[in-house]
Amino acid sequence: MINNILLIFGGVSGEHDVSCISAQFIEKTLIQCNYNVIPVYIDRNGLWYKQNSVSAKPVTSKLELCHLVKSVKCHLQSLNEKIEVDFVFPIIHGTNGEDGKLQGMLEFLDIPYAGAGVLSSALCMDKYYSKIFFQKAKLPQVKFIKIDRNEWINKPEYVIQKIMETFKVPVFVKPSNMGSSVGVSQVKEKNDLNKALDIAFSYDDQVLCEEGLQVREIEVSILGNYPEYKVSIPGEIITTHEFYSYEAKYLDKNGAKINISADLTVDQIQEIQNLAIKSFKAVKGDGFARIDFFIDKKTQIIYLNEINTLPGFTPISMFPMMWENTGLKSTDLLKTIVNLGVEKFKNKKMFKTTHT
Ligand SMILES: Nc1ncnc2c1ncn2[C@@H]1O[C@H](COP(=O)(O)OP(=O)(O)O)[C@@H](O)[C@H]1O
Ligand SMILES: [Mg+2]
Repeated sequence: MINNILLIFGGVSGEHDVSCISAQFIEKTLIQCNYNVIPVYIDRNGLWYKQNSVSAKPVTSKLELCHLVKSVKCHLQSLNEKIEVDFVFPIIHGTNGEDGKLQGMLEFLDIPYAGAGVLSSALCMDKYYSKIFFQKAKLPQVKFIKIDRNEWINKPEYVIQKIMETFKVPVFVKPSNMGSSVGVSQVKEKNDLNKALDIAFSYDDQVLCEEGLQVREIEVSILGNYPEYKVSIPGEIITTHEFYSYEAKYLDKNGAKINISADLTVDQIQEIQNLAIKSFKAVKGDGFARIDFFIDKKTQIIYLNEINTLPGFTPISMFPMMWENTGLKSTDLLKTIVNLGVEKFKNKKMFKTTHT
């Protein structure tokens, strides 16, 4: 029986602030489902603080410092308290939360949690390695190449030449391990490649270059444990910027319009939903995710872009809104996510851990 749910938010991540907003929505909805929510805020230095409730200004006093401890059952230990924890809902977007590290800690502590496991979290966070898995599953993707930092440092002319020979401009340059469009550049001229590569390499030591297309940006939400999934009706992001940049996402309130029901044919919807299932299977995904696609405006070809294993969960985030539009209200969505986490945990317990 799941009663006490630890909601972990904030984190040492560029998406810290978004996580705090997502956590408010998840807290409210989990309470509506009658769970007892114990919010824990991880500050920008990585310290954990127990909260009475999620807020934009979390309490960070010494009294609230806490950590998760494994004894017979997992519990949250702070200076004066010890609270049993039945389930963890980690909602830290990006680095150190969505990339398998936190999930690895929860596996180690042997506690059920929401969302994708270690492998699929790590894979989906890394654009290059997820693309390799998607290639193996024959999923349609835009043309791409990967560049390593040592190539860029030792043979910059060769790297520029390789990019110019492989693609026509515009080219998209992005760090392999990032999100929220941080470090992503649209390069329209050879002379701007240098700067774009330097920016991308300031975030990661592997960088992706992609053929830049004129695209519609279509997203779906997925739910379920490997290999059985349900997919929502697709939605569309229509940005008012040249591409869906960090500015368009977070700084400009008119940076994008959301169409919760993308204007697509029945065949297009079906193809996108099938590709979503195939791609989540390709990375052995569990729990939930938002899966993003491009449709080339010229050719109408559908391409898989990326999987987000901890998508935004604010009241205006696509993930919960697309489910709502598909007939699953937020309370049922969160109950399903908790149940899926419990089910996955129970399955894991069925494996032998001894040789005899
Ligand atoms: N190959 C591409 N062609 C056209 N637009 C692209 C391409 N790659 C990225 N973009 C634009 O850049 C945005 C961010 O890129 P994305 O790969 O989704 O990174 P992030 O994980 O940071 O969201 C996309 O939403 C899209 O607007
Ligand atoms: Mg994206």
